[in-house]
Amino acid sequence: MARRKIVAGNWKMNMTPSQAVALCAELKDLVKSDDVDVVYCVPAIDIIPVVEAVKGTNVAVGAEDMSFEEKGAFTGEISADMLLDAGVKYVIIGHSERREYHKEDDASLNKKVLKAIEKGLTPILCCGETLEQREMGITLDWIRTQIKSDLKDVTAAQVAELVIAYEPIWAIGTGKTATTAQAEEVCKAIRECIAEVYGTDTAEKVRIQYGGSVNAGNAAELFAQPNIDGGLVGGASLKADFGKIVCYK
Ligand code: 13P
Repeated sequence: MARRKIVAGNWKMNMTPSQAVALCAELKDLVKSDDVDVVYCVPAIDIIPVVEAVKGTNVAVGAEDMSFEEKGAFTGEISADMLLDAGVKYVIIGHSERREYHKEDDASLNKKVLKAIEKGLTPILCCGETLEQREMGITLDWIRTQIKSDLKDVTAAQVAELVIAYEPIWAIGTGKTATTAQAEEVCKAIRECIAEVYGTDTAEKVRIQYGGSVNAGNAAELFAQPNIDGGLVGGASLKADFGKIVCYK
């Protein structure tokens, strides 16, 4: 069975609540699709108005991060239960900006993945190499290590349901997209790594996105690759172009 494509916007730290509602209205008709899952991953403060704004549409809402703790004295954090109660379905875990600026490591990201799954949220687990790592020729080893550590103790059935996003750090927000061949090579290696650890059935089911300067011009070619099941889109998810990325065919 063919995997269903999934295109998610990662709004990052953009859009006030009123701007968020306006963007949802602008995109509403442009992102209609019968064969692509569409997700807006939005800043925490935008979640409630965006859930309201996309009601009755094909758009699901995601968070950009969450705590691995259940509840309690963790100032500034947001729990899985809070996200669920607000109507969130997906959560980005381990974005390279969280890894870099907030020093999130694989051990804590693994706890986040496990907590999200326990609660019924779908993780969009990010991985990716720096330019330095790519130039050293250790990209695939690095990605395999990230995936294996971040998915420790996750069962095959759970892995089959999650989304993995391959985002080369050097291609994020730089306008420098990985070539289609580079993106496909790593997404394929991720699938092979999943096959090795969890079996081929699981590997065939897990959805793997590419992220890093995806735009209306390159989405069709990227998403046509056998191991690329959609995209995690930053800058271009904040404008009408996002509709063209969703409707890439
Ligand atoms: P850009 O699409 O702006 O390069 O961002 C990619 C990204 O980080 C999505 O999570």
